[in-house]
Amino acid sequence: MSTAPPNRTIVITGCSSGFGRLTALHLAKLDWHVFATVRKEADQTSLLVEAAIRGCKHNLTTVICDITQAEQVAALAQTIGTSTPRLDALLNNAGTGFPAPLELLALDDLRTQLEINVIAQLAVTQALLPLLKAARGVIINVSSVNAHISLPVTGAYSASKSTLEGLSDVLRLELAPFGVRVVMIEPMATFTHLWETIGQRSRVIRDRHLDGPYIRLITTGETIAIWLAKKGFRPQLFVDTVLKILSSRHPNARYVVPGIARGLIFLHQVVPQKLWDWVLRRMYKW
Ligand SMILES: NC(=O)c1ccc[n+]([C@@H]2O[C@H](COP(=O)([O-])OP(=O)(O)OC[C@H]3O[C@@H](n4cnc5c(N)ncnc54)[C@H](OP(=O)(O)O)[C@@H]3O)[C@@H](O)[C@H]2O)c1
Repeated sequence: MSTAPPNRTIVITGCSSGFGRLTALHLAKLDWHVFATVRKEADQTSLLVEAAIRGCKHNLTTVICDITQAEQVAALAQTIGTSTPRLDALLNNAGTGFPAPLELLALDDLRTQLEINVIAQLAVTQALLPLLKAARGVIINVSSVNAHISLPVTGAYSASKSTLEGLSDVLRLELAPFGVRVVMIEPMATFTHLWETIGQRSRVIRDRHLDGPYIRLITTGETIAIWLAKKGFRPQLFVDTVLKILSSRHPNARYVVPGIARGLIFLHQVVPQKLWDWVLRRMYKW
């Protein structure tokens, strides 16, 4: 027999670090019951220890799940289905980035990029939809400003996020009759573990192509990425946006974080493409 947690329920993927971890702990503290996925046992332990310190461990259930593994996604749905008959929210947060100029990008890296940031997002959504429909819940997909603005070296990541936006727009229409809302959060850059992962991958590409024509583009890309991430917004703004969505009966389709970055997306839409490209090439010294 299923025993429903008394409070509202949410699944958050990718809670070992960054936005996912912060949001999981914050919502658990606010008496949501959070099912937080991680990939490693060490991350499970550290998340539970931090929740205990913050006094919200009783509201947190950790589940080991690599979202690209079908059997682990099925097990995730099974675990949640046995603890609750309805799920109020799903935050599809897990994600990664594979930086490289497209000529040098390993096609297997592109496949992995799309597998994690696109296909696995839909896999988790499909698996949890029966529970989300039962609650007329909300699905929040974490996209990026990069879905709208593509920069050199980040082609694979941009492609994954703009494809995720396409899926989310369709899901929103298809799930409307079931009362399930679909929302995208589009963060600008801010420093999280993601940037360390991207930095490490970039250094591998750089070391492999030290004498090649793309070396300047790769190193400038790294400098710009570090600058953007360090100048980034307070990660708590991401959590505040999730809270705003969860408390709204009629949320918007997309939320840019911070809101001011909407201006950049607008600029990209109105500035002539030739001028935009000229500015970017100046920025990247390319
Ligand atoms: N930080 C930014 O500037 C920024 C900007 C725009 C959008 N975003 C998006 O925000 C989301 C969260 O990123 P973050 O910045 O918080 O980075 P993060 O700290 O690196 O968190 C990413 C999370 O995704 C998990 N993950 C990666 N691959 C996975 C897989 N195959 N299965 C399950 N989990 C997986 C990671 O787990 P492991 O620790 O096990 O790898 C980690 O928990 C991502 O979708 C990212 O694209 C971030």
